[in-house]
Amino acid sequence: IETWRSSDNKDQYLEQSTSHRKIIRRWNQLSRLQRSLVYAFVIILVILLVILLTSKATPTNIKVELNSLKNSSLVNDHQAADSAQTRGRPLVGIINSMLCLKGPGNARQFAVVESFKHAWRGYKDHAWGHDNLKPVSGMSFDWFSLGLTIVDSLDTAYIMGLNEEFEEGKEWIKNELIFTKNKDVNFFEVTIRVLGALLTNFHFTEDVMFLDKAKDLGERLMAAFSSPSGIPYSDVNLGARTAHAPEWSHYSTTAEVTTVQLEFRELSRATNNPMFEEAASSVSEKIHQLPKKHGLVPIFINPNTGHFLPHATITLGARGDSYYEYLLKQWLQTGKTINYLLDDYVTAVEGVREFLAKRSSPNKRLFIGELTSGSESFNPKMDHLTCFLPGTLALGHANGLPDWHMTMAEELLYTCYLTYAAHPTFLAPEITHFNMASTTDDMYTKTADAHSLLRPEFVESLWYMYQITGNTTYQDWGWQIYQGFEKYAKVPNGYTSLANVKAEKPILRDMLESFFLSETLKYLYLLFSDDRFVIDLSKYVMNSEAHPLPIHKN
Ligand SMILES: *[C@@H]1O[C@H](CO)[C@@H](O)[C@H](O)[C@H]1NC(C)=O
Repeated sequence: IETWRSSDNKDQYLEQSTSHRKIIRRWNQLSRLQRSLVYAFVIILVILLVILLTSKATPTNIKVELNSLKNSSLVNDHQAADSAQTRGRPLVGIINSMLCLKGPGNARQFAVVESFKHAWRGYKDHAWGHDNLKPVSGMSFDWFSLGLTIVDSLDTAYIMGLNEEFEEGKEWIKNELIFTKNKDVNFFEVTIRVLGALLTNFHFTEDVMFLDKAKDLGERLMAAFSSPSGIPYSDVNLGARTAHAPEWSHYSTTAEVTTVQLEFRELSRATNNPMFEEAASSVSEKIHQLPKKHGLVPIFINPNTGHFLPHATITLGARGDSYYEYLLKQWLQTGKTINYLLDDYVTAVEGVREFLAKRSSPNKRLFIGELTSGSESFNPKMDHLTCFLPGTLALGHANGLPDWHMTMAEELLYTCYLTYAAHPTFLAPEITHFNMASTTDDMYTKTADAHSLLRPEFVESLWYMYQITGNTTYQDWGWQIYQGFEKYAKVPNGYTSLANVKAEKPILRDMLESFFLSETLKYLYLLFSDDRFVIDLSKYVMNSEAHPLPIHKN
């Protein structure tokens, strides 16, 4: 090939040796057919070369080198990885052998990766190091001052094979993420978003920097358990290592105190220090002992007395949801060895069927309502948050639970789909209300509930259902919703929450939630994969913020 190109250059050509002249003479002696064959051969060679080179330039090529790094060889391997990167090879090549990441494999996945990069770029340009980007105004917002968006979305970048973004984020965490500020944070949010993310990134990369940060954070978060009952307080001051109930009440939220166990257990397993797991597990054990309504729990609990607020709402939505989710997932995380968790989950799903699952009128759509005023009255409203339930039900069914769990999952998932399809934006509101005696509309949206934070729960359930059944209808539903995000929530600097999904021209809320990157785009990316098992549900549990954690034997 070199000869062909240089023959264009007269000077170089003249300098060539006599052997080259011999070749040219022979060439002239060849027949026309022989020459054509040589031409064809060269053209094919060039085409093959071009294909090879371009495929190297795309993220499809993120090679996962299966390796079994032992702790003792960590440092050397990371040095090797660093020098590998300077030669232009992907650093994320070195990962845990349980995972097989190939990067996007089809047009839908490439589109989602582009969305992630678009949002990341906007965040980087306008809000780097702050918790959230305000994408409309190009400003930033701080909630806990922990660079939430970077930490929360880093493993999504990793799973998508985005090396550059992953490296930028990792460097920020290594150099800037500190937990010494004298500032109150929400115990639960920081556990699922920050601790969960750090543990996943440690698991993926085996870079001990992530584990060191997780350990530091975990030790500070332990202050929450210092209540008389051991039920954690809602707020922790990470710098001062103190904790207290929220200003407005003596109570903690039931779903919050029961949605830290996957993370604290994994921290114990990764650090070989049982302290974290023991504190978090004992919360689950205490709640197991409390009286419930056929497995259903009120949404507030008193950290001083260890008892529920008796007349609090019972819901599978806000403040109740992930209590049920973590019963099943803790049982799976521990290799199906802790039976009371499974028992409580199964009982709760029966309770849902008996007291909360109703059908709307006129089309008999299955939905999950709420019990208020100490179970005196039924409220036919369903939070978008409740759309996590089909996925969890399907996960339980895949692990041996009754067939009616799966039927309920399918029906409920379709109702959730309709909460999107009902609006011109093809986006769902925060809350949907159902009619029990209407002859026209099964559901309606109140203006006060019509906002959308681009939440993940529905696409999360689609991914579970797709992985478990292989039914591609769920991919198509996900694609419709993704178009809604692209059309109505995309702005020049990222993606924004919307004030009203009922309006053709939605009012923008000027906020990019970290879970849009951590969860919504991650689940969409996984949902669109031709390979259903990129994150294999027999090896991983997703925490409540979509950070995959490994399943253990016990
Ligand atoms: C796939 O799922 C959709 C929606 O639940 C359902 O209507 C359809 O029958 C399913 N297809 C198969 C082959 O099971």
